Amino acid sequence: MNTFAVNGGARLVGTATVTGAKNSALKLMAAALLAEGTSTISAVPEIADVAIMGEVLRRLGCDVELDHGQESGAGSARIGVPQRLGTETDYELVRRMRAAICVLGPLLARCGRATVPLPGGDNIGSRGLDLHIAGLHRLGADIRNEHGFLIATADALVGATVWLDFPSVGATENLLMAGVLAKGTTVIDNAAREPEIADLVSMLVAMGAKIDGAGTSTLEIVGVEGLQPVQHTTVPDRVVAGTLAYGAVMTGGDVLIRNGRTHHLDVPLGKLTDAGAEVTSIDGGFRIVMDRRPRAVDIVTLPYPGFPTDLQPMAVGLAAVSEGSSLITENVFEARFMFVNELVRLGAEVQVDGHHVVVRGHERLSSAPVEAHDIRAGAGLVLAGLVADGRTEVSGGHHIVRGYPDFAGQLRALGADVTLNTTPDA
Ligand code: UD1
Repeated sequence: MNTFAVNGGARLVGTATVTGAKNSALKLMAAALLAEGTSTISAVPEIADVAIMGEVLRRLGCDVELDHGQESGAGSARIGVPQRLGTETDYELVRRMRAAICVLGPLLARCGRATVPLPGGDNIGSRGLDLHIAGLHRLGADIRNEHGFLIATADALVGATVWLDFPSVGATENLLMAGVLAKGTTVIDNAAREPEIADLVSMLVAMGAKIDGAGTSTLEIVGVEGLQPVQHTTVPDRVVAGTLAYGAVMTGGDVLIRNGRTHHLDVPLGKLTDAGAEVTSIDGGFRIVMDRRPRAVDIVTLPYPGFPTDLQPMAVGLAAVSEGSSLITENVFEARFMFVNELVRLGAEVQVDGHHVVVRGHERLSSAPVEAHDIRAGAGLVLAGLVADGRTEVSGGHHIVRGYPDFAGQLRALGADVTLNTTPDA
């Protein structure tokens, strides 16, 4: 059992360095499957999900070395991909980390076959796979659901135009990784535009893929015969940078975030400026300073470049200590306000109405034991503990360590009193 213990009261002050993005590194590791030989991905965050993805690839026959400790919280993944890959992924691993579903596209492209368990729902909503399935079907794959597994087969993938009903990050990635080795041209319309997609495109292009439109909602892919292994550096984690920025503002702090890319955080940093913070871009990062109680701001989550759903719990936490009332709307995941009940235990005044919450700000929160049910809500609860009087214990810390490398250490280095306590399961 992992529990984060937070003694509230400190301002976050100092310098923090952000490593590569979880949501990119996992997909880059899957992309390595597309070429026989050894690909090396650097700035891979030292988190539980990367270890799980390493295991997924090993079970497909890859030789995976995760080398951590080159720099704080990050390392590299060396992935040796054999000529003949296994095509089946375990339920046990996909159940622990839904992102493992991103091996579907590369396996279909390389082997013409993939068996991947249906991951089921999780703590932020139902998270369907219909867009992945419909898109791959357009490229000629036959996909059936048997005994809890998706079994996808294709004699040959053939390029086609795919219109996504919603700009799903995962579906865009699976289609990209299938399209690069398909015959002819694939067009993904209404594609997701997240920086992590652009990062995946840049790795695929370095491997020899032909892709136009990175960062736009239309991706055009001309299939090639084969790809080569590469070395690639993961894009910095905008969600970790954003989490630290929200923590700085909530605590009236002054934090320099190295590797934080302001242009990946336009909307969330704009909201912090509206709340009264000063954000300054510096070479290789940005500085965020807050010298007053935050003003309440309204926030609406949307696919990139909108406000990221992954920072919504931090936005609710900020609203809980702001002057005035905030209206926060969640448009991406249906059940992402589940954590609000935990925040209420810390004294926050929050009313939920469907996919909206109204938050009336109080100057301070009050400590209590709370439980994290997902990665981002967990990080949001830790930040709320920083502005609560007394000692807050956030259980369910195993969720947080899935996505934040050494979160407690990073906050301690900024002057907070946060420890991660690990005890054996009863
Ligand atoms: C990724 C990120 C997650 C982030 C999310 C949105 C990873 C590992 N995770 O998740 O941190 O919060 O993007 O930015 O990169 N949907 C369907 N059918 C589909 C696919 C998606 O209905 O076939 C729905 C989902 O249920 C959800 C919404 O679309 O409500 C967004 O999902 P998607 O963009 O696919 O997110 P993920 O790739 O799962």
